[in-house]
Amino acid sequence: MAEIYEGALDKGLEGVVACSTAVSSIMDVTLCYRGYTIEDIAENSTFEETTYLLWNDKLPTKNELADFNREINTYATLDPQLVNILKTIPSKNVHPMAWLRTAVSLAAHFDNEAQDNSPEANKRKGLRLLAKMGSLVTAFENIRNDKPVINPRNEKSLAWNFLYMMTGKEPDAELVKVFDMCLILHADHELNCSAFATRVTASSLSDMYSAIVSAIGALKGPLHGGANEQVMLMLKKIGTLEKAKAFVKDALANKEKVMGFGHRVYKNGDPRAAILRKMSQLLTQRMGEPHWYEMSAMMDDVVQAEKGLLPNVDFYSATVYYSMGIPIDLYTPIFAVSRISGWVAHAFEQYANNRIYRPRGHWIGRQGLKYTSIENRK
Ligand code: COA
Repeated sequence: MAEIYEGALDKGLEGVVACSTAVSSIMDVTLCYRGYTIEDIAENSTFEETTYLLWNDKLPTKNELADFNREINTYATLDPQLVNILKTIPSKNVHPMAWLRTAVSLAAHFDNEAQDNSPEANKRKGLRLLAKMGSLVTAFENIRNDKPVINPRNEKSLAWNFLYMMTGKEPDAELVKVFDMCLILHADHELNCSAFATRVTASSLSDMYSAIVSAIGALKGPLHGGANEQVMLMLKKIGTLEKAKAFVKDALANKEKVMGFGHRVYKNGDPRAAILRKMSQLLTQRMGEPHWYEMSAMMDDVVQAEKGLLPNVDFYSATVYYSMGIPIDLYTPIFAVSRISGWVAHAFEQYANNRIYRPRGHWIGRQGLKYTSIENRK
């Protein structure tokens, strides 16, 4: 039996095509959402419109978008009973992603359609999850700081409401625009680890909430969404521009990973990093702390020269979020606030054309052992 699978073994599934998808595509350095380039969408769209596109395979008309926004607004406020329970779960000394994983799981208990796997119910659940993700993350921020949980405002975008609920202050229009663009850039990315986790769970015909909780768990790791937080912690640890070059050289010499670099699919550069790099330069300058960008750019040059690796989406998003005053440990939860859009799109696609994921493992353990009673064991 071993020989059958040995040749097919591909550690990390590199190069394995696990499903057909029409949600987003990566071809060399081009990322497209439903056929539109990320540059086009980031420049011209909004996060809500992008999500509509990812879920419906078409850009919405004015009326369709207005209806979509209205539904999001309807679902964005958290049930007060859920908020009361959330206040009782530990929020200090826990990672926000661990808290979010629990919170989304709890939110399922407040959804009467949680077990209904019909396409109509799944669409409504997708909308509820999209609408509530930012409300949950900002509720966490307020609860852990012993502040009241703030409800979202009607008629406002998800980006506007996130910044408002996080700070309690009406956000600056330019910051909202930047944040909205960050949400667009992170919305989907073909068959990444958390999208795959979504699809694997959905493929057993488990419910949407379970699929999304799986995705949050996958995104949390430092090799996936957790990298953006690690990038900022690394920059803070390095501290000054003068130390950046030596830090990178030492890390590479010690075979350590420099967070925010490398990618399984992009070998010639991540198009999202190019957009975020410009935003990082502009925003760090505007906040009067350009050294964060300068350090990043220097590290970018050194990693490229020494190892031939290019920055991924997480590298420059770290300094973008930092210059917006967002707490560092919320960077990965913000990734979830955006990526819920793609996860739900992947769940829809999986449910619509399902076959359970069940790969094989290549056996490398012992064989033919005989049971020994506990008295006779050494
Ligand atoms: N820093 C230093 N070296 C890196 C590296 C990084 N960030 N990313 C990859 N490498 C090196 C590996 O050590 C390996 O080197 P070797 O051939 O000398 O052993 C080689 O590049 C191939 O890397 P590998 O880990 O096999 O790539 P992968 O496709 O399995 O993993 C990532 C892809 C993204 C997980 C990986 O690049 C990584 O860990 N990056 C840092 C975390 C990160 O930024 N994640 C966010 C992804 S969007």
